[in-house]
Amino acid sequence: MTNDQPAGDLRLAELSKRFGPATVVDRLDLTVGQGGFFALLGPSGCGKTTTLRMIAGLEEPTAGRVLLGDRDISGLRPYRRPVNTVFQSYALFPHLDVFENVAFGLRRRKVREVAEQVRRMLALVQLDGYDRRRPAELSGGQQQRVALARALVNHPQVLLLDEPLGALDLKLRRQMQLELKRIQTEVGLTFVHVTHDQEEAMTMADTVAVMNGGRIEQSGTPAELYEFPATAFVASFLGQSNLLAGEVTGRHGADLLVEAYGSRFSVPAARSRATGGAVHLGVRPEKLHLIAEGEQSPAGTQGVAGVISDVSYVGVSTQYLVRTGWGTELAAFAANSGTAARLPVGAAVTVGWRPEHAFLLAREPGDGDRTGPLLDEAAVAS
Ligand SMILES: Nc1ncnc2c1ncn2[C@@H]1O[C@H](COP(=O)(O)OP(=O)(O)OP(=O)(O)O)[C@@H](O)[C@H]1O
Ligand SMILES: [Mg+2]
Repeated sequence: MTNDQPAGDLRLAELSKRFGPATVVDRLDLTVGQGGFFALLGPSGCGKTTTLRMIAGLEEPTAGRVLLGDRDISGLRPYRRPVNTVFQSYALFPHLDVFENVAFGLRRRKVREVAEQVRRMLALVQLDGYDRRRPAELSGGQQQRVALARALVNHPQVLLLDEPLGALDLKLRRQMQLELKRIQTEVGLTFVHVTHDQEEAMTMADTVAVMNGGRIEQSGTPAELYEFPATAFVASFLGQSNLLAGEVTGRHGADLLVEAYGSRFSVPAARSRATGGAVHLGVRPEKLHLIAEGEQSPAGTQGVAGVISDVSYVGVSTQYLVRTGWGTELAAFAANSGTAARLPVGAAVTVGWRPEHAFLLAREPGDGDRTGPLLDEAAVAS
């Protein structure tokens, strides 16, 4: 299991898994750079755990290969792979104390000098002094860190994390996210982190791949995915988007012209995933601003008219829903910077945005507007 040679990149090549008639991982191709922090993000049931299990050797691929550097590790038994996994239920040995939990892998490999290595790992996860406690005497976050130390002490080249923070409350979760990131930077291993929490993926990873129905829809840095999503699914799973159904009607200089519900909009061609035909015109809620009746629209904005149908004050921002003339509710977030007064439900407004803040996605001609957050349930049902 231990291997002190540099591992090289982790590559999945055309990796597929079928269970009976169902294809749950569908020709996955991806590369995780050595020392990178990679997050696999997707709704429940999209195939994340199955992918990790194939990397770990716990599940046999139906087709495709797992490579580490130049080495094809697809045929290796799990314990021969330089890979360790921290599962969602991190099942520590309840009868062993913290020290022995962490020492387990070393003892099994008959390593001498166990104490020094265990102490070093416990310091890394900031649990010095806890070595004689039993798991039952630890908090959830502390148990999670023991599970992490138990995996790291084996010096894997790749660490797989399957929703390891799922059981923690929000605050502890945030704290552990930052801690995991610190540990990853310190030890310089390749991390593959599975989650269905988009904020967690964006906080921690340098590369995020969004998975849907066994396929990767897009991968890139968090900013790339958020600022210029490739599909309607990515636009709605990573944050929230307002997607208006429109048609490209022409081009003007560097802009594409789009018609939607009788109005014309322009979008820079460089921000388009489609060249023509049916499109979704997308704008993020925080890029929309509300212009009250009688107020002057800032120069260079375009927009649609509507009536405020809901106002939610959530502290850092005020979140509005604005019902357009054709009945779609657009989400608009106003940062709570103290400069603008809150508008009431029923107020007539124009929802404005700058052309360069919009993006265009290819649309199936039958598809209508899509707004609001994408719920896991909705994603699974679709
Ligand atoms: N051993 C199995 N036999 C049959 N179907 C399976 C098996 N394991 C998983 N599946 C199915 O494969 C699909 C993907 O499962 P997987 O566990 O990879 O999802 P996931 O993305 O990890 O979801 P979650 O976020 O809920 O953990 C699911 O529809 C699941 O029911
Ligand atoms: Mg899973």
